[in-house]
Amino acid sequence: MQIAIDGPASAGKSTIAKLVAKKLGFIYCDTGAMYRTVTYMALKDQLPLDDETAIMQHLAKMVIRFTPGETEQRVFMNDEDVTLAIREPDVTNNVSQVSALPRVRTELVKRQRDIAATHDIVMDGRDIGTTVLPNAALKIFMVASVTERAKRRYKENIQKGITTPLATLEAEIAERDRKDSHRAVSPLRQASDAIRIDTTDMSIDEVVARILTLVTETKTH
Ligand code: CDP
Ligand code: CDP
Repeated sequence: MQIAIDGPASAGKSTIAKLVAKKLGFIYCDTGAMYRTVTYMALKDQLPLDDETAIMQHLAKMVIRFTPGETEQRVFMNDEDVTLAIREPDVTNNVSQVSALPRVRTELVKRQRDIAATHDIVMDGRDIGTTVLPNAALKIFMVASVTERAKRRYKENIQKGITTPLATLEAEIAERDRKDSHRAVSPLRQASDAIRIDTTDMSIDEVVARILTLVTETKTH
């Protein structure tokens, strides 16, 4: 069974997807982490972010792996643990540019489909229901107001000792949403058969419960 969860930045996709996967005994695939890893590599190797040929040459030699960790899944670029590095602001603020490159998308979509081919899976991202897994049994489009999403990022940052002002976070999130929604290849948009969940006023537990109900309904239909 394939469950696709798409939506804009900080809507709660990865938090919810992980919990749903755990409840169901499915694997979880964080496709955003794959685009972040490619961006991290391009910055580290000082490749111009619009040089698709150079980025593709490096990507061809790069293995992106997920492994279950103590508390959460870890992400590896070849043998380097990049779990924390790919969440740094430099990566976050450049990932939309790299994820707009068509050949990068083709390659990562192929790898995502390979993972999904052999497992029951919850996969989250921007184009899972529209492009990566168009036949997913259940598609969720998760949204929340930009103010609420910025507040969530703010709280997360405070725990990490980062004090970016709320207004800056709101502007950064809005800008990333704009870029992700307007790119030519596989832009962020709701699949026609996706179910929209607005999490603005919902707790994490409420969203998980809603999706588990939808899974049960999907299985019995
Ligand atoms: O967690 P957050 O919402 O900040 O973003 P993410 O899911 O880690 O995704 C980071 C970026 O990767 C997004 O802003 C998109 O530019 C890109 N992305 C994409 O283009 N397609 C996907 N399926 C997943 C992510
Ligand atoms: O993956 P995505 O960028 O869509 O969002 P996330 O990283 O899963 O969630 C961003 C933050 O919002 C996390 O700190 C979650 O704990 C929080 N969250 C929340 O407060 N209420 C929800 N219903 C969902 C997520």
